[in-house]
Amino acid sequence: MTAHGDEGAGPGGRARPDPLEDGPDVGRVIVSEGDLQARIAELGERITADYRGRPPLLVGVLKGAFMFMSDLSRAIALPVEVDFMAVSSYGSATRTSGVVRIVKDLDVDLADRHVLVVEDIVDSGLTLNYLQRYLLARRPASLEVCALLVKDGQQRTEIELRYVGFHIPAEFVVGYGLDVDERLRNLRAIHAHTDVSP
Ligand code: IMP
Ligand code: MG
Repeated sequence: MTAHGDEGAGPGGRARPDPLEDGPDVGRVIVSEGDLQARIAELGERITADYRGRPPLLVGVLKGAFMFMSDLSRAIALPVEVDFMAVSSYGSATRTSGVVRIVKDLDVDLADRHVLVVEDIVDSGLTLNYLQRYLLARRPASLEVCALLVKDGQQRTEIELRYVGFHIPAEFVVGYGLDVDERLRNLRAIHAHTDVSP
C-alpha cells in the first residue's frame, strides 16, 4: 500500500479514471489530461524565457480559465502576479454576440505592467477582441494573450494570440474549466459535449 492510497495510478497519479467521464452528456476526449499537462509545461517554459526580467501580471478570464490559470501559473518560474476579470456575453449560452459586459474588473492598475491575458478558449474571438481593446486603454507596458484552445475556422475578428495550447475542431467542448450550463468544469480532460436534450 502506498502512503496516499493511490494504487493503480500512473506516475504522478495522473492516469486515474475520472468519475465524471461516465456522464450521459460527456463525449469523447478531445485533449487528454496528460496532453494538457505536457503542453502547459511547454507554455510555461516559453513564457518563463520570454518574460525573464519583467514578470507578467497574469489576467485570467473567469470562470472558464480558472483551472488553466492555476496550472499555467505554476509552470512559470517567475514571480508572476495574478488577477481575474469576469465577463458575460449578451448572447445566448453557446453563441457570442460580441457585446461583452464586465462583471468583475481588475483590482490592480495596469500602467507599466506586462499583462498576459489567460483565456480558456477562443471561438468567434469577439470576447477577446473586446477585452484587448478594454485593457489596452489602460496603457499596460505590453499586452499578450495565452489561450488554451482555439476553435479552427471560427474567428470573426483579427486577434493576435502569442501563445496557444491546442487548435481543436469547431464543436462544443467541456471540462478543464469549460462548462455547459455551469456543469462539467471539473472534468480533468477536454471532452466533446454530447447533446442529450429530448
Ligand atoms: P468567443 O467570444 O466566441 O470567442 O467566445 C469565447 C467564450 O465563449 C469563451 O471564453 C468561453 O467562455 C465560451 N465558449 C466558447 N466555446 C465554448 C465551448 O466549446 N465550450 C464552453 N465554452 C465555450
Ligand atoms: Mg472564457
